[in-house]
Amino acid sequence: MAQQSFFSFSILLLFLHCTNAQSPAASPVQAPPVAPVQAPPAPPAQSPSGVQVAASPGPLDVVKILGKASHFSVFVRLLKATQVDTELFLQLNNTNNGATIFAPSDGAFSGLKVGTLNSLSDGDKIELVKFHILPTFISTSQFQTVSNPVRTLAGAGNRFALNVTTGGNLVNITTGLTNTTISGTVYTDSRVAIYQVDRVLLPLDMFTPKLPAQAPSPAVALAPEKPKKAPIVESPTVPKDLSGAVSSFVQNNWALLAAGTVSAMLSS
Ligand SMILES: *[C@@H]1O[C@H](CO)[C@@H](O)[C@H](O)[C@H]1NC(C)=O
Ligand SMILES: *[C@@H]1O[C@H](CO)[C@@H](O)[C@H](O)[C@H]1NC(C)=O
Ligand SMILES: *[C@@H]1O[C@H](CO)[C@@H](O)[C@H](O)[C@H]1NC(C)=O
Ligand SMILES: *[C@@H]1O[C@H](CO)[C@@H](O)[C@H](O)[C@H]1NC(C)=O
Repeated sequence: MAQQSFFSFSILLLFLHCTNAQSPAASPVQAPPVAPVQAPPAPPAQSPSGVQVAASPGPLDVVKILGKASHFSVFVRLLKATQVDTELFLQLNNTNNGATIFAPSDGAFSGLKVGTLNSLSDGDKIELVKFHILPTFISTSQFQTVSNPVRTLAGAGNRFALNVTTGGNLVNITTGLTNTTISGTVYTDSRVAIYQVDRVLLPLDMFTPKLPAQAPSPAVALAPEKPKKAPIVESPTVPKDLSGAVSSFVQNNWALLAAGTVSAMLSS
């Protein structure tokens, strides 16, 4: 008896829920624990595809989409190795902000100086991957009005600056070290956009000397058994100004250092 009335009550709830679903002012997300329908407040974007989104079993599997595209294998490997894929999944599942991903092609990674990835610590790898993900959905047309620097999952501030500018049909991206252009849209719906970039976006924070932090501290600088991360001690006089010349100077020196680190790691 009790069971039966519970059952009828459930049916009633279900019925009410379905009826309500039509009204745009439908119940706040958590209300009835009856159906897993999320009734997402449609994002400020275009298509009224809320229904389809709600019907899908979970958030978009970005790794799968990139895997299908087949020329993002390095980025996919990094997403998994750093577990940023999990973070992205949670972000998409638990918020309605969506995400924008700048996916570097395999060609972008081969364009890096040899050994660049291997020389990064695990923490740096996480940061690098997160730097390619924005915690909001941005359509190509929204790039025209985006305010710089845009925020990435890696953090805020000048050292993680990522600026997007548009002109004509181009969407340009600069980090202060990397200039590139979105070369294609891999995927987009009203919540997630995946754009291809043909250069890895290098955050200033990771690839330039941290000037104040690295004042000569011989005890640290000379310690022989810490080949893990390149001690960025070179040229403390590098000015903040990042003309092309200076940044390529920095990059070249960094590459030398990185090469040194890699051989140190190989031989240890
Ligand atoms: C995904 O979102 C649903 C609904 O908000 C929630 O119940 C579930 O716990 C979330 N999954 C994870 C893994 O966070
Ligand atoms: C975007 O990049 C292209 C090629 O590098 C350049 O010619 C163009 O001036 C840039 N446009 C903007 C708005 O930065
Ligand atoms: C990014 O844009 C901000 C605001 O316009 C500007 O102050 C900063 O210098 C820009 N950084 C780069 C690397 O272009
Ligand atoms: C990136 O573009 C800016 C402005 O177009 C230029 O001043 C800068 O030298 C470029 N940087 C690199 C690393 O190519």
